[in-house]
Amino acid sequence: MTDKTQNAMWGGRFAAGPDAIMEAINASISFDKRLYAQDIEGSRAHAAMLASTGIITDKDAETIREGLLTVLSEIERGEFPFSAALEDIHMNIEARLKDIIGEPAGRLHTARSRNDQVALDFRMWVRGQADAAIEGLKALIRALLVQAEAGADWVMPGFTHLQTAQPVTWGHHMMAYVEMFGRDIGRFEDARRRMNECPLGAAALAGTSFPIDRDMTAQALGFDRPSANSLDAVADRDFALEYLSAATICAMHLSRMAEELVIWSSAQFRFVTLSDRFSTGSSIMPQKKNPDAAELIRAKIGRILGATVGLFTVMKGLPLAYSKDMQEDKEQVFDAADSLMLALAAMSGMVSDLTANREALSLAAASGFSTATDLADWLVRELGLPFRDAHHVTGTLVAMAEKKGCDLPDLSLDEMKSAHSGITDAVFDVLGVENSVASRRSYGGTAPENVRAQIARWKEKLS
Ligand code: ARG
Repeated sequence: MTDKTQNAMWGGRFAAGPDAIMEAINASISFDKRLYAQDIEGSRAHAAMLASTGIITDKDAETIREGLLTVLSEIERGEFPFSAALEDIHMNIEARLKDIIGEPAGRLHTARSRNDQVALDFRMWVRGQADAAIEGLKALIRALLVQAEAGADWVMPGFTHLQTAQPVTWGHHMMAYVEMFGRDIGRFEDARRRMNECPLGAAALAGTSFPIDRDMTAQALGFDRPSANSLDAVADRDFALEYLSAATICAMHLSRMAEELVIWSSAQFRFVTLSDRFSTGSSIMPQKKNPDAAELIRAKIGRILGATVGLFTVMKGLPLAYSKDMQEDKEQVFDAADSLMLALAAMSGMVSDLTANREALSLAAASGFSTATDLADWLVRELGLPFRDAHHVTGTLVAMAEKKGCDLPDLSLDEMKSAHSGITDAVFDVLGVENSVASRRSYGGTAPENVRAQIARWKEKLS
């Protein structure tokens, strides 16, 4: 007989219950309750397998499977009595199952351990998050494609060092992000493929002497196969690390894009107008419309990278197989996943809602001597100058225009000729930004026809 203060699961070996501080450091229920659906799904599959292999009776398995559905609905209705004394989600559910169905509940844990159970639950949860991230990224790409299509031929300045470099198109700039987010999808897909092996049946660490059918549970739970080594199965958290790594890169992309939206929405740039729905005002400055959502997206990488570094630090140096350290795998992953999904949703909303200011983009595109490279290329193409000489001639003309306080197309033909006598009227054709972008037809270049071809390719890919 065990008294009330002792643990119902292992009270047999213990003479006293835990210290309150022991309970506080040990319990994970406050956060791992998030795994309830995966825990119940895994237990239902395990019970069905135990019956099909004759390890428990069909009747017991049915009672267990039904009882677990009752537990599920209690949790979903918010009526489940979570208890820190029962440590974690696994023991909370099993104890409640016992209250509901009695003796057969004690048979569920045959040929299983909390070690393979938690590895399974968490893996399924992370797998779901990889799927959710892929969906969130697809939604964001769709929003970017709409923007890209609307402004496939709108000119804007392209920057290097945040200094005007060459004109590009708005569509091309949007499509640059489509490529980045497309690679993010690839990373989540890769991680998902590798993580899709079922640890259930590894038991505590060594496997089990019961004649279990691991293929059956793996299949029932949507895995490609059971994991091949029981030690690895319970000790591995690569799946979470790979998810976090993909999430970190994705968050970095979101952060860069968010930064551009912050800059572009400023009064100095006015490249875009963010919708009221994704902006805030100031309590003191009535004129302000702040890009808070963009700023917060820019910052989310901090938590996500923090979680990645955190979990690597927990896992490094751990001997095989399970150690309680690994309970520290969950909270940061939960937080990183929530942050990522919120950032993706906010970015999709902002992109869908934002208005690109065609005129401001075009005005900025033409300033800052953005077609100087076109002029140098013209000197090479039409006058046969070596590119280095053409660069020098063009530099002289830029300096001349700068001194006069005008742009390159505002120089007279005579002024042009003073830098190189061979220059003719035809040079003015290449100094216009529209011609500049239209001429960049090399594969991957900014010409509107290229942009439209890339949009079509991505639409096809997503359909
Ligand atoms: N709450 C534990 C965790 O999250 C479950 C596994 C506990 N296993 C054990 N042998 N104590 O890691």
